[in-house]
Amino acid sequence: MKAIVYTEYGPPDVLELKEVEKPAPKARELLIRVYATPVSYGDILARNFKAVSPRKFSMPMPLWLPTRLLLGFSRPKRNILGSAFAGEIEATGKDVKLFKAGDKVFGYRAMNFGANAEYLCMPETGVVTIKPSNMTYEEAATVPYGSTTALNLLRKLNIQSGQKVLINGASGSIGSYAVQLDKYYGAEVTGVCGSPRVDFVKSLGADMVIDYTREDFTENGETYDLIMDILGKSSFSRCKNSLKHNGKFLAVSFKMKQIVQMLWTSLTGGRKVICALSPDRAADLILIRELIEAGKIKSIIDKRFPLAQTAEAHRYVENGHNKGTVVITV
Ligand SMILES: NC(=O)c1ccc[n+]([C@@H]2O[C@H](COP(=O)([O-])OP(=O)(O)OC[C@H]3O[C@@H](n4cnc5c(N)ncnc54)[C@H](OP(=O)(O)O)[C@@H]3O)[C@@H](O)[C@H]2O)c1
Repeated sequence: MKAIVYTEYGPPDVLELKEVEKPAPKARELLIRVYATPVSYGDILARNFKAVSPRKFSMPMPLWLPTRLLLGFSRPKRNILGSAFAGEIEATGKDVKLFKAGDKVFGYRAMNFGANAEYLCMPETGVVTIKPSNMTYEEAATVPYGSTTALNLLRKLNIQSGQKVLINGASGSIGSYAVQLDKYYGAEVTGVCGSPRVDFVKSLGADMVIDYTREDFTENGETYDLIMDILGKSSFSRCKNSLKHNGKFLAVSFKMKQIVQMLWTSLTGGRKVICALSPDRAADLILIRELIEAGKIKSIIDKRFPLAQTAEAHRYVENGHNKGTVVITV
C-alpha cells in the first residue's frame, strides 16, 4: 500500500510517499481503507519533535520525556503520521463483533498515528465509530481530535445557557469546536483569532470575534464566566480582570505553573484556574456524531491535498495559511 513515511525528524520534506506492507487485522481489529485524514497540531509536532525542547513543549515538563520516548528519542519510532481518519472497513478480524466489512467509519488514533496511508488497523474498541451520515469522508476526518477534546474539557466547566465565554484560539482545531459546543450549550461566545480567520470564526456561529493583532481582549472592559486559552498565549494573571467574580480560566495547554495555580485557586474563593487532559473515548465520538447529524456541529475544510502532497499540506498549515482544517485525501 502507499503511505507517507518519515524516518527522521525535520521539516515537511522528511515526509515521503513510499510503498509499504499492507497491515493485517488481528482477531479483534478492523482493517480500514482510509479515504481522508487531517493535518493536525499533533502531526506537525510529532514530525519535528526533536526541535521541541522541554521549554517549548506546550504541556507540563514531566510529560516531555515520556512523549519523546514514545515518539522515538533521536528518530521517529512510528514512521507514519496521521492521528485521525475517515474511511471504510474492508475486513474484520475473526472475533470482531461491533463492526462489519463495508461500514463507513471515522476515528482517532492520537499518538498511535498511522492514518497517512491507504490502510490502517485498529481495535474495534478503539476511538472509532460510524461516520455521520450527513458528512463527506473529508469533513468527517477533521472532526475527532478537536471536537472530542473540546467536548471533554468543556464538560468539566458545566456551561450554562446565557453564560459568557471567550475562546482565545477560536480558529484552530479545538477552538473551532469549542465555539460550536458553547453555542450548543446556549452560551454567548466571543472568539479570538488572527485577522485572516475572523470570518471563519464568525461562520462557526461566534457572537463576537476579536482579532488579536488589533485588540487585546484583556483591555476592553468585558468580563466572562469562562476564558478558554487554547495555546497558552494569555495567562490567568493577565485575564483576571476579564473574568467575573466566580469566573474560570481553562488552560488547554498548561505547564506546572498552571497546575499550581489550579491547586491554589481551588483552596481560595473566587476565580479558578482549570487544567485537565482530555481522554480519548469512542462514546464521545458517538455523541459528537449525534450532534453533527442533528445539525448542531459542522466542519469547515480549508483545502484538500492528495496523499502524495502531504509535505505540501504540512507546509501550508505550518506557515499559518489555513482557515479551517486541511485534509489529505487518500
Ligand atoms: N488538555 C488537553 O487534553 C489537550 C489535548 C490536545 C491538545 N492540547 C493542546 O492544545 C494545543 C493545540 O490546540 P489546537 O490543535 O486547537 O491548535 P491549532 O489548531 O494550531 O490552533 C491554534 C489556535 O491558536 C491561535 N493563536 C495563535 N497565536 C495566537 C495568539 N498570539 N493569541 C491568541 N490566539 C493565538 C490560532 O489563531 P490563528 O490561527 O487565527 O492565528 C488558532 O486559533 C496544544 O498546545 C496542545 O498541547 C491539549
